[in-house]
Amino acid sequence: MKLLIKNIKTLVQVRDNVIEKVSGKAMSDLPCIEDAWLAIDNGLIADYGTMEDFPGITDWKDLEVIDATGKIVMPCYADSHTHIVYAGNREGEFVDRINGLTYEEIAKRGGGILNSAQKLREVSEDDLFEQSLIRFFEVIKQGTGAIEIKSGYGLNTEAELKMLRVIKRLKDLNIIPVKATFLGAHAIPAEYKGNKEGYIQLIINEMLPAIAKEKLADYIDVFCENGYFSAEETKLILETGLKHGLIPKVHAEQLSHSNGIQTAVACQAISVDHLEFCNDKDIEVLKNSKTMPTVLPGAAFFLSLPLPPARKMIDAGLAVAFASDYNPGSSPSGNMNFMMSLGCIQYKLNPAEVINACTINSAYAMGLSHEIGSITPGKRANIFITHPISSYNYIPYAFGSNLIETVLINGEKIKH
Ligand code: NIG
Ligand code: FE
Repeated sequence: MKLLIKNIKTLVQVRDNVIEKVSGKAMSDLPCIEDAWLAIDNGLIADYGTMEDFPGITDWKDLEVIDATGKIVMPCYADSHTHIVYAGNREGEFVDRINGLTYEEIAKRGGGILNSAQKLREVSEDDLFEQSLIRFFEVIKQGTGAIEIKSGYGLNTEAELKMLRVIKRLKDLNIIPVKATFLGAHAIPAEYKGNKEGYIQLIINEMLPAIAKEKLADYIDVFCENGYFSAEETKLILETGLKHGLIPKVHAEQLSHSNGIQTAVACQAISVDHLEFCNDKDIEVLKNSKTMPTVLPGAAFFLSLPLPPARKMIDAGLAVAFASDYNPGSSPSGNMNFMMSLGCIQYKLNPAEVINACTINSAYAMGLSHEIGSITPGKRANIFITHPISSYNYIPYAFGSNLIETVLINGEKIKH
């Protein structure tokens, strides 16, 4: 099946060759073609150019044509950090926080992650799949063309495996690329209260071998935080995961400074995420690493946390990625359009920088920069077409609007 999109107002994020990521000043560079055409063949990006140089088409058989006059075409977002597999929601805690409780206070009295764990343990795998599928399609319609999904609301072997099997079912739909992350070290479950060591042993001796046997995860993640897992415990869990073939990712410096960034870099994590309490020394450590600092603007916004120093990182020459952190407790939205708005409005990144952060750099953070994240020949045709708008700046500017008209996944229209 061949598809031609013609009269595109602006074709955004066009890279002739595969690149891994963009860093520092280069994040302000967003290559575009004005008045463009884009050809898709067999689900992949085939070719592109300007309408002026439009090649005459001889073979119109089986060719579908979309006229994109006045519209912007972009690669879909890569959302490299989500927790979309969960049961129920936590709207009650949302109201509790409005009425004055903090996120930490709610967690201390058995709410928070443990609340989600209780709910998750009670639902069947099929029910969990159905609930998660709704969110999976929700974010695709909002422009997400690849997603990483974590476990971490099971907190016992059976329930963690249930989550990872649901993630595998989403992966096996073969719609968008899905990466699975084992996050057993997300919190200490109620039955191990006062015995964190025992829970870590369960992760290491029971959960990890079972997950590796069923090949259920690509990555391993730890919530490195005061009251959760220390830097030393994080290192031990990540290193054990590595022995089972799982690449590290880390939740770091979200609620306090806990040396998560240093640990992530030492363990060669592919990404280190959150970073609200990242300091200058951490920025130096990140400079000499392959670890992608990933900001989750939805979580900092929803919990009213200090803002991660994304501007400072880019000015220091680092690459920065953005992801949604879609989860029931700290970011109940996977809308990457909104994450871009937050990036511009709160973090003072320019639209070109946030588009790079949400496409090619977040693709790197999930090991997919060769497959998605830019308009490059041979990459998957996971792209979206906007309504007629004046420029790509309008996407983060018009926060809260739904500007996406059509999403194409592997070159095929997703029904709205
Ligand atoms: O990424 N920080 C830890 N984990 C999640 C929140 C989990 C929850 O509250 O359910 C996060 O923000
Ligand atoms: Fe998270």
